[in-house]
Amino acid sequence: MIRSPSLLASAAVLATLATPAPAQDADPGAIVALQFAVSGDHKGVRASGAKGVCLKGSFTPAPDAASLSKAPQFSKAAPDKAVPVTARFSMGGGNPKISDKTKPTTRGFAMRLADPAGDMTFVVISAPVFSTRTPAQLLEFLQVRAPGPDGKPDAEKVKAFAAKNPETGRQAAWLNARPVPASFAGTDYWAVHTYTLTNAKGEATKAKLKFVAADKATLSDEELKAKPDSFYADELKERLARGPARFDLVAILAEPNDPTTDATAAWPEEERKTRTLGTLAITAIEPDATCDAATFDPVVDMPEGIAGPADDPMFAIRSPAYAVSLSRRSN
Ligand code: HEM
Repeated sequence: MIRSPSLLASAAVLATLATPAPAQDADPGAIVALQFAVSGDHKGVRASGAKGVCLKGSFTPAPDAASLSKAPQFSKAAPDKAVPVTARFSMGGGNPKISDKTKPTTRGFAMRLADPAGDMTFVVISAPVFSTRTPAQLLEFLQVRAPGPDGKPDAEKVKAFAAKNPETGRQAAWLNARPVPASFAGTDYWAVHTYTLTNAKGEATKAKLKFVAADKATLSDEELKAKPDSFYADELKERLARGPARFDLVAILAEPNDPTTDATAAWPEEERKTRTLGTLAITAIEPDATCDAATFDPVVDMPEGIAGPADDPMFAIRSPAYAVSLSRRSN
């Protein structure tokens, strides 16, 4: 299902029906309003991922992917039956003029793997963790960063919040400890939440999902300095003219004590067993309009055989939040 603005009235209801969401501890509309406020209230853009590039490609499942999930996208064996994909790379946040050189900001990757029986949608980032554990914590994270009367956030409030909520610093620390990607296609992306994969026998497997870039590329501090503020879109055009940008979709399998409802908690993935579910090939740039007409909704737009965590409040709230952003940017 692709959601258009005309379907917005039913969007929140749909999300509730599709996902037995836990009681939300913060209003999605209030969160999205603050996301816009923090990044300068730009008009006609997403509350996050405002600067980005729309793409197309295809997904080819691994021969044994169906043993983990009965989703149709994982059972099309022949390469000529590859699943069509619409996708979008983006910079985190609601500022459409953000520099591609920004370090402590996630790069985003949204994608829809189309199938008549139900699209499979992932909206993933270039870090293994999200910045907050609950919607209420996200609301406060944004409140302290909202500009005050002088146009700037109150640095003392930001510091006090960080001291009281240390897990909210993990994402920025992770990004700051690594070089900036040289390309949207040169970095790995994580779905962050824990997914449940269910096969045709009804056997369930819990896993985190990661898109592993075939051609990783980073910039040294010196190389970064020499770059203009916007270089990802041109780099991508040149890269795709040479051939597809590929990612393996890897399932990192949970062990019994791994946290499954906390988006700020990474698993020691080098110590976990993995299974490759397939390969995504990004082949060409698409007009923005192809990506802008609807949201990529990772909560509702999933076929049977794969589901995000209904008991992770950060997952459930994404659907109504994305719908609010779509409604605002479409008006
Ligand atoms: C692990 C958690 C999350 C990840 C990985 C994530 C990632 C992303 C990415 C990559 C985009 C850009 C999508 C595109 O290109 O169309 C996006 C958009 C957005 N995100 Fe998230 N996000 C997460 C959680 C949240 C939460 C908890 C909220 C708010 C409660 C939120 C609010 C938004 C909004 C409002 C948009 C704009 C949607 C639109 O206008 O289409 N995100 N997110």
